[in-house]
Amino acid sequence: MHMNKKLEDLIPELQQHRRVILGHELTPIDPLPRLGQDLGIDLWAKRDDCNGLAFGGNKVRQLEYYLGPGMDMNADTVLITGALQSNFVRLTAAAAVKLGWQAHVQLEERVPSNDQLYRKSGNVFLNNLLGAEISYFPEGEDEAGADRALDKRAEELKNQGRHPYVIHLGLGSLPYGGLGYIRAAAEAYRQVIASDNKPDYVVIPSGSGLTHAGFLVGARAIGWDIPIIGICVRRDQKSQTDRIRQRSNELTDMISRTGLITDQDIIISDKTLAPGYGKMNQQVKEAIEKTAQLEAILLDPVYTARTMAGLIDQVRTNAIPKGAKVLFIHTGGNPAIFAYQNAIESFS
Ligand SMILES: Cc1ncc(COP(=O)(O)O)c(C=O)c1O
Repeated sequence: MHMNKKLEDLIPELQQHRRVILGHELTPIDPLPRLGQDLGIDLWAKRDDCNGLAFGGNKVRQLEYYLGPGMDMNADTVLITGALQSNFVRLTAAAAVKLGWQAHVQLEERVPSNDQLYRKSGNVFLNNLLGAEISYFPEGEDEAGADRALDKRAEELKNQGRHPYVIHLGLGSLPYGGLGYIRAAAEAYRQVIASDNKPDYVVIPSGSGLTHAGFLVGARAIGWDIPIIGICVRRDQKSQTDRIRQRSNELTDMISRTGLITDQDIIISDKTLAPGYGKMNQQVKEAIEKTAQLEAILLDPVYTARTMAGLIDQVRTNAIPKGAKVLFIHTGGNPAIFAYQNAIESFS
């Protein structure tokens, strides 16, 4: 029914929001037959790690909608804050290059570590290579404080005659990035309908929540009633549930579909989160190794391996039944693998 429709026809309200194209418009959905067989499910991955901009990842889709309003404001500089090994920060630096802007990135000490690979390799190295201006913020869990520090830097840049645009990620700001995943859900739906290959479950990371909330809102907006299981990468199940509820409500308002999401739609597991954000555990290590060695697909320990670990846990506890068709959303994060090399190799 929806096969020949453009994404904009599926969710016309998306056109209210300006989008800057930064990555490939369509990412493949690949079968993962060997890992699927190992787990006893029919496993597929939507390859948002392959979307074209500087190692790719979910933040490319989010930036397309964050930077739209910046274009409207004639910005020439973008500012963002994130963890030292943030993929969002690296992709913001890359997007700035594409647009001919300057990037100012603020790196937060969210994972205390003296490991030189963590501090210098992976995304940190790429930020430098992409020509971003870098500052550091010592407190990792103070979202509002990090935003304030960024605003202060933006004010300084304004006084120097620049036109700064700040990407605020705190709960007080509109979740533009989630629009990118509303779009991604429509894209995935069109792909699976076209190939008559509809999954029974989607498994997706849940961090800031814009990927998860966006996909959920996008799916429901087109009448796709599939269970979407968010795997916690940073906060526990309760606070993440509140966050997804809030972000989903904001996103439905942004596409004029208020009231689309109920609490039954919000499915979240934090069973693979311990000991916390960016820290290894046995399930994450197993997920990295199994996915690399059975599928040659690379996962990072912070987001995608934790999400795959969550998927494996859902299968082993029968929350996802054997034989089910499961779509894993691969959200990128590949450069972080190098920064976490010591942490991965030394974990036992
Ligand atoms: C590779 C990767 N996957 C998943 C996430 C989580 O996405 P979200 O913040 O939209 O919940 C991030 C966040 O930085 C990420 O970099």
